[in-house]
Amino acid sequence: MPDKVDALVLFGATGDLAYKKLFPALATMAHQGKLTIPVIGIASDKWTCERFRERIEKSVAENGDGPDSAASLMSLIRYVGGDYRDAATFTKLRQALDGAVHALHYLAIPPSLFATVAAGLQNSNCAEGARVIVEKPFGRDLHSARQLNAELRKVFPESAIFRIDHYLGKEPVQNLLYFRFANAFLEPVWNRQYIQSIEITMGETFGVGSRGKFYEEVGALRDVVQNHLLQIVALLTIEPPSHHTVDALRSEKLKIFNAIAPLDRSAIVRGQYAGYRDETGVNSQSQVETFAALRLYIDSWRWAGVPVYIRAGKRLHKTVTEVTVKFKLPPHNIFGAAGALSNNELCFRLNPDVGISLIAQAKLPGTDMIGEALNLTVQHEDFAYTANPYIRLLQDAMKGDQTLFAREDGIEAAWEIVDQILRTQTDLESYAPASWGPPGADALGPAGGWKNPSARA
Ligand code: BG6
Repeated sequence: MPDKVDALVLFGATGDLAYKKLFPALATMAHQGKLTIPVIGIASDKWTCERFRERIEKSVAENGDGPDSAASLMSLIRYVGGDYRDAATFTKLRQALDGAVHALHYLAIPPSLFATVAAGLQNSNCAEGARVIVEKPFGRDLHSARQLNAELRKVFPESAIFRIDHYLGKEPVQNLLYFRFANAFLEPVWNRQYIQSIEITMGETFGVGSRGKFYEEVGALRDVVQNHLLQIVALLTIEPPSHHTVDALRSEKLKIFNAIAPLDRSAIVRGQYAGYRDETGVNSQSQVETFAALRLYIDSWRWAGVPVYIRAGKRLHKTVTEVTVKFKLPPHNIFGAAGALSNNELCFRLNPDVGISLIAQAKLPGTDMIGEALNLTVQHEDFAYTANPYIRLLQDAMKGDQTLFAREDGIEAAWEIVDQILRTQTDLESYAPASWGPPGADALGPAGGWKNPSARA
C-alpha cells in the first residue's frame, strides 16, 4: 500500500455532502498547500467541467472560508459524468486519472450503490493500489453492513477501506480521548466506584429539511446513534489503549461495543416531532423516529451498574452536543442537613461551542459551613477547534492513517447494538418542536432529570 495517494475521486460530486462539507474542506486544504493532486468529481449528472467548477465556487463561498479560497482548488478539478452501472463511465474515469495509480475514491453516495461502484472500479482497473472512503450510513442494519463489508472486501483489502464518521474528526471529540488519557488525576475515579452516570445529549433545533426522503429510510437511531453517539460512548468508557495506534484504539472500542448489554423496552424511547409527517418526502403515516433516548449499561468490571443515558433528536430546544459525567456524592456528609451537597460533574461541550466544565462545591463566605456549586469552565474560542472535521479525515485517509475510521468488526458490533434496539417493539411518542423530546424520555432519564445544556459551555 503506498504512503501517498496521487488522485482524489469523488463519487456523488454533485450531491449535498460534497456541496456542504467536502468542497469547503478540499478548498481549505488546497489553499494551505496540503492538496496538490487532481480532484476528479464523478456523478450521474451530465455536466460540463465548467458547470461543476461553478458549483464548487458557490459551495466554498457559502460553506467555506470565502470565494477566494476556492482558487487553488480550481486548477486541480476534473469532472466525469455518467451512470455508475455503465462500464463506459469507468473508462472515462480511467482516462481522467491520467496515469494516476494510487487514487483515493470517496463514495459520497447511497450505500445501495457502494457495491456497484466498487465493482466498476475493479473492472476498470481503478481499484488496484487505491483506497476507498465510504460514507455513513454504512448499511441499515447488521445484515446489510455485513453484506457491504463483504462486497468491499472483494475489491479492497481492509487496510484500504476508510469507513468515515465525521464526528471522529471533530477536535472536541478527539479531546475526549486526550483529556482522559493525558490526565493522571482522572483514572482513579473513572469507574463505577465514583461515577454515578454518564449522559450525552445531541440536540438539533432544525428538522429534516430537504432530507425527508433519506431520513425516512434511516431515523435517529441509524442516523446518529449507531455511529456518532456510540463512538462518543466508547471514547468515554474504553480501557487505556496500550499506545495510540490504529488497532490498539479500535480494539478497545470494540470491547466496549461487545460489552453493552441488550436493552429492554423500558430503556428505549422513540419520538417523532409534531409536523414531521408534513415534511417533503415523508410518509403521512411515518413511524420513523426523529428522537431517540436510551439507557445503556456496559457489562464490565469498570462500568457495571453505571447507566449511560443518550438522547438525540431533531427539532429540539437547542442545537448542542454535550457530555455530562456525574460523580457520586461524598460517602458521608460531615456538614449535616444544612450543608446538603450536590454531585460533582465533568461536562464536555462538543458542539456548537467547545468547552470543559467542572462543577465543584465550594464554601460560601460566612459563619455557616454551607456551600455552592461552582462552575469552573474553560471555553475554547479558537476557530481551529471547530474546523471542518473533513479536513482532518481527508488528510488522514490520504496518508493511510485509519485511526479515526471504523474497522469492519467495530462497525458490525455497533450495528448489533442498534439492531437489537430496532427489533424491540417500542411505541413512537410525539413531541412538540423546541421541546427536549417526548415525556417518555424523562421517565427513562437520570434520577433528578436530564441535564438540559445551557446556552454556553
Ligand atoms: C450527520 C447526520 O451524520 O450528522 C445529520 O446525518 C446530523 O442528521 C449531522 O445533523 C450532525 O453533525 P454536525 O457535525 O453537522 O453537527
